[in-house]
Amino acid sequence: MTEPAERPTALRLVALSKRYRTGDQALSEVSLSVPAGQVLGLIGPSGAGKSTLIRCINRLVEPSAGQVFLGPSSGPPVDATGATTGPNRGVHEGTIAATTRGAAAGADRADAPGRELELTGLGRRGLRRARRRIGMIFQEYALVERLTVMENVLSGRLGYLPFWRSWLRRFPPNDVAEAFRLLDRVGLADQVNKRADALSGGQRQRVGIARALAQRPDLLLVDEPTASLDPKTSRQIMRLLRGVCAEAGTGQGTGTAPGPGLAAIVNIHDVALAKQFMMRVIGLRAGRIVYDGPPEGLTPAVLTRIYGEEDWGPTLPAEDEGLSTTGEPSTKGESQGPLRPTDQRIVEAL
Ligand SMILES: Nc1ncnc2c1ncn2[C@@H]1O[C@H](COP(=O)(O)OP(=O)(O)O)[C@@H](O)[C@H]1O
Ligand SMILES: [Mg+2]
Repeated sequence: MTEPAERPTALRLVALSKRYRTGDQALSEVSLSVPAGQVLGLIGPSGAGKSTLIRCINRLVEPSAGQVFLGPSSGPPVDATGATTGPNRGVHEGTIAATTRGAAAGADRADAPGRELELTGLGRRGLRRARRRIGMIFQEYALVERLTVMENVLSGRLGYLPFWRSWLRRFPPNDVAEAFRLLDRVGLADQVNKRADALSGGQRQRVGIARALAQRPDLLLVDEPTASLDPKTSRQIMRLLRGVCAEAGTGQGTGTAPGPGLAAIVNIHDVALAKQFMMRVIGLRAGRIVYDGPPEGLTPAVLTRIYGEEDWGPTLPAEDEGLSTTGEPSTKGESQGPLRPTDQRIVEAL
């Protein structure tokens, strides 16, 4: 295993700020760098800007200032129709326009090999392409209810298919085989034909994970994946997320060459879960980073800096399942509610 310092950067934020039209300063000059393979937890009180940060990265929320850079692509270049051209992506369309390597792709190219891509500098078309490299997993699961588990996972591949194929919803056999493999990996091999609306919360989140992985992303953005789940299921989902990110680094079971690993940013509602499952934790308070370090560094003093005064005693021993809901202010932010317009947009974008 290489040291994190030697790994390529998966994501870099430079002085990212967001001020909503309402005047709320949700983010103030947030800068950070996430190496490939790192699973980073974002904690902070309700309203601290966690969701805004995640949404500014893929520009579902447009940043007011600052830059977002996606690291060099781990996959082959994407052609102008959106089909990938390399052997590993499972799409064997034979289609093929100029690759984005060419100068013709210009400023909108989403996949220049070996180079960072500035997401904040992309037009609509380039952004669409770049978003395929970012898997999104949100707390409300954002599944298409009337579709089956398998269809939901395959929808993760839609961005790679030519329009007519996605319209007919016909998927290349390799994509179907890959979806079976992913559903097996997330423990849903026996549920492939079930409709999404017949699943439990934990199962829905597993489908969300499989769907995001079907994109073969270089980065996962995960917003409060366990907010509506019981403590045991929450742990299983966190363990699964950690596992799939690590496996992406070994090439295990993917039929692809070993890569540097899948990076993830996970907004976590629960300090104990962050301590147990994250490789690095960033604490946000009022849109600013007030902690950036290992989970072991979340001492009572640090938690007070992030969340304000509280008795942190019961939060610290993360072993006890029953304690995992402590440590979070009881006020619920708007992120706890039903699908917000941006979630709706994600569903529509699929
Ligand atoms: N769509 C929006 N319009 C205006 N203000 C918003 C919007 N979304 C979030 N905010 C505000 O931005 C701040 C950060 O919110 P959010 O990113 O949802 O925080 P968190 O996910 O940490 O709870 C809060 O003050 C919130 O009220
Ligand atoms: Mg939120």
